[in-house]
Amino acid sequence: MADKPPVCDYEGSDYRTRFWEGQGRGYEDQVERVALRRLLPPTGRTLIEIGAGFGRLADEYLGYETVVLFDYSRSLLREAQAVWGHDPRFLFVAGNWYQMPFIPGLFDTMVQVRTLHHAADAPALFAQLARIARPGGRYVLEFANKQNVKAIGRYWLRRQSWSPFTLSPVEFVALNFDFHPRWIRQQLHAARFSPGRTLAVSYFRFAPLKRLLPTRLLVTLDGMMQHTGRIGQLSPSVFVVSAHPAIGETAVPDVTAVPDASAVANTFFACPLCQSPLGSAVNGRLLCPNSVCARQWQVDNGLYDFKEPFA
Ligand SMILES: C[S@@+](CC[C@H](N)C(=O)[O-])C[C@H]1O[C@@H](n2cnc3c(N)ncnc32)[C@H](O)[C@@H]1O
Repeated sequence: MADKPPVCDYEGSDYRTRFWEGQGRGYEDQVERVALRRLLPPTGRTLIEIGAGFGRLADEYLGYETVVLFDYSRSLLREAQAVWGHDPRFLFVAGNWYQMPFIPGLFDTMVQVRTLHHAADAPALFAQLARIARPGGRYVLEFANKQNVKAIGRYWLRRQSWSPFTLSPVEFVALNFDFHPRWIRQQLHAARFSPGRTLAVSYFRFAPLKRLLPTRLLVTLDGMMQHTGRIGQLSPSVFVVSAHPAIGETAVPDVTAVPDASAVANTFFACPLCQSPLGSAVNGRLLCPNSVCARQWQVDNGLYDFKEPFA
């Protein structure tokens, strides 16, 4: 466990009110939803959002039978639960994306928006996602693009030391990374995903422009510009949809039943430490059946907690 990559910890964070609510980011929120709707299969059985935070985008997933909001921050998940906890489609799961607590082949659709920039080890994360992906499903990934117009301008004007053209990720602030689109595609391929349609998003993320022009106009223009992602991406944000590894390339258990609240632990979760499938919760605990591991994981008021073992 000592060699686990570092995590950007949002526990107790005021992210929702500090970054989104009343902070003039309606444009960013809306263009991300436009891109998501273009790439996300609208319906399906199981969807997971990795790094879902307070559930900003949760209303985009209502066509799914089971929606897992997964995040490292229990407090942000509690905020999501306050809004969506009444809806039996939603499960709230705390854990680390380097140790996903799910059985293989579980998810039809996986979504990640505004989170990869916190991944110190994106290849390790992609390997985890390839394991829990259902063959034939989709992985919609948004990432921060290092090769964007502003970074190129700053580099040419010598106001920025790092090159936006080199493939390796750049850590511009501790645990905040920008990625080159080609490097991301290489890493997706290495994890046996097949990256496909790509959208260039959020070109007008520029405060004076946002003040000058109506949000609706900027969103419409951005919606048109997003298609330029097919030929190249110079926007600060990029969305790419990948197909999961093909059938036969990954071990897939027979996951037939869509879980309801009581059956979910039978077929859904795996011990994040040893990957043994977990049985039903007993007295609010999920017990790892592997006698060498034998960890216990807590289910506390509807929150499945895999951050640290309870015992
Ligand atoms: C900038 S927020 C984005 C939240 C949400 N996707 C949105 O767009 O509103 C990044 C999120 O990634 C989560 N995160 C960071 N590292 C993580 C990890 N190793 N495992 C799970 N979640 C993580 C944080 O807790 C935080 O909620």
